Amino acid sequence: MRRIAEEVLGEEKARLIWSRLDIVGDIAILKRPLTDSITVSDLARVAEELVRRLPYIKSVWLAESPVEGPYKTRRFTHLAGEERSETVYVEHGCRFKVDIRRVFITPRLNYEHLRIAKLVSSGEVVVNMFAGAGLFSIIIACKSKPRKVYSIDINPDAYRYMVENIELNKVGDTVIPILGDAAKVIVKELGGVADRVLMPLPELALDYLPYAVRALRGKGVIHVYLHVSTPKGTDPLKTSEQLVRDRLRELGVRHVVLGSRKVRPVAPRTMQTVVDVVVESD
Ligand SMILES: C[S@@+](CC[C@H](N)C(=O)[O-])C[C@H]1O[C@@H](n2cnc3c(N)ncnc32)[C@H](O)[C@@H]1O
Repeated sequence: MRRIAEEVLGEEKARLIWSRLDIVGDIAILKRPLTDSITVSDLARVAEELVRRLPYIKSVWLAESPVEGPYKTRRFTHLAGEERSETVYVEHGCRFKVDIRRVFITPRLNYEHLRIAKLVSSGEVVVNMFAGAGLFSIIIACKSKPRKVYSIDINPDAYRYMVENIELNKVGDTVIPILGDAAKVIVKELGGVADRVLMPLPELALDYLPYAVRALRGKGVIHVYLHVSTPKGTDPLKTSEQLVRDRLRELGVRHVVLGSRKVRPVAPRTMQTVVDVVVESD
């Protein structure tokens, strides 16, 4: 693919779009380059060539915006191939039907999905507060032996795909899809049930931390995902751990930070991180 981009645009321009290309199923997504020197017609030419020469790419879309709004979706323009935005994406042997225009999806959480799945012990109850099309939840159910994974999302389309993906991966005995606001769902029906809580929505993580604590059955682990800016001379992991410690202290909750890691860069000088923390709730 890199060679195709280089042939169409030259080495310098190809370098600027290469790292902004994602493949989801049989769809290629080009994120708008961070420079005006590459036009939409440049990208359309690359897209045409990708479809013409790579049989596994059926459709190419330009992501016009970063993820936005409560459902964390992007605005897209069709560039080449079939004008279809639904596909089946395979990760760690699990299959996920998604519509890239209707639900959040990125292959860049691939490592993190499996990392969390491997941490889950047999018999655990997990609450995934921001489940999207069900990737963390289903990969956990396929790779580990949780008792239950409660999988919440507020986006009706994400919920619909999650239900379908649970069927597709035959994990209906374990993964329970729930449509709604995670805070309300936990208060109403999931208080004190969980050994582990996932919070893969950085924008709400610190605000919703009290609900994650509330979902725990006594002592348990919370995975808090954050976006932190990374000015020179700062350590995004130290910043992230401090943010989580400060918030838990404010809530008066006993806790021990197990560790943290950089998940992926999400914007210039902004990093997605995760802090794994053991929390004891009363
Ligand atoms: C970053 S995406 C989740 C990604 C997903 N965990 C994955 O691995 O692909 C965040 C999700 O949170 C959902 N969301 C936003 N606000 C919510 C809320 N208050 N309660 C539950 N889900 C919410 C969005 O609809 C979106 O699907």
